[in-house]
Amino acid sequence: MKIGFLGSGHITSSVIEGIFKSKLKIKTIYVSPRNKLISKKLSKKFKKVTISKNNQQLIDMSSWVFLAITPKVGHKILAKLKFKKNHKIISFISTININKLKNYTKSKNIVRVIPLPFIGIRKGPIVIYPNDKKIKKFFDKLGKTLQINNEKISKNFWTTSSFMAPFYNMMLITSNWLVRRGVNKKVAEDYTRELFMALCQDSIFKNKLSLKQLVRESQTPGGINAQALTELKKKKFYKIQQKVLNSVFKRF
Ligand SMILES: NC(=O)c1ccc[n+]([C@@H]2O[C@H](COP(=O)([O-])OP(=O)(O)OC[C@H]3O[C@@H](n4cnc5c(N)ncnc54)[C@H](OP(=O)(O)O)[C@@H]3O)[C@@H](O)[C@H]2O)c1
Repeated sequence: MKIGFLGSGHITSSVIEGIFKSKLKIKTIYVSPRNKLISKKLSKKFKKVTISKNNQQLIDMSSWVFLAITPKVGHKILAKLKFKKNHKIISFISTININKLKNYTKSKNIVRVIPLPFIGIRKGPIVIYPNDKKIKKFFDKLGKTLQINNEKISKNFWTTSSFMAPFYNMMLITSNWLVRRGVNKKVAEDYTRELFMALCQDSIFKNKLSLKQLVRESQTPGGINAQALTELKKKKFYKIQQKVLNSVFKRF
């Protein structure tokens, strides 16, 4: 199969990395010349990646076209490009809905997908709307797919994906605190990565327990976890977390 990525940025890089770590059988991947640095890097690293001359050539050469451009660029360029009826269009664009995409591309064959950067290591959730067997089969090789049947629901998942940077910042604060207490920076960072990774992996391993049960099980009454949780609750840390989710949601 020949596929093309319109927009060679962060998410295109991650998806292509994931594809080449998987058993997906791809003949050629066309990437758009922009971003220059990233497309060059990808074509150097992977023999099957070819930089197209321009966006239209990429579309003409590919049977599946992935839209990996920002919404602003999408509004500007999509209507000027010519898509074929049998093209499958897979849009990663956060804020352009299916109807608008159909108007721009004159195609009915459009699926919206939310990949996240760790798709590069074939990990993490991948939200798909609407249901599409072929697209699901493709992304099943790159992470944990979740098909939804209402486009509006995707806004909730877009919103929660805003917690990547805050999650890493919590790790940073933890590690910096250790450093201030005299721990070597590398040791502190490695320790923090292991701690948070083990917590996430354990929560997957214990998926028969609800998250509420996990919270309960990870504290001893009067213990240090109970203390930390109570103090954070008292300081409205989690209320703020919910408020922030509500506020990010307004963008979609
Ligand atoms: N990053 C994520 O984790 C993530 C996850 C899910 C979905 N998405 C969505 O995926 C889309 C891309 O995100 P991103 O993070 O990969 O953004 P990005 O790194 O900024 O990539 C966008 C790419 O589009 C290129 N571009 C700009 N104008 C173009 C044009 N006229 N024709 C072709 N390409 C053009 C940019 O090139 P220049 O650098 O030369 O301008 C850049 O390489 C967004 O809609 C975003 O919402 C992102």
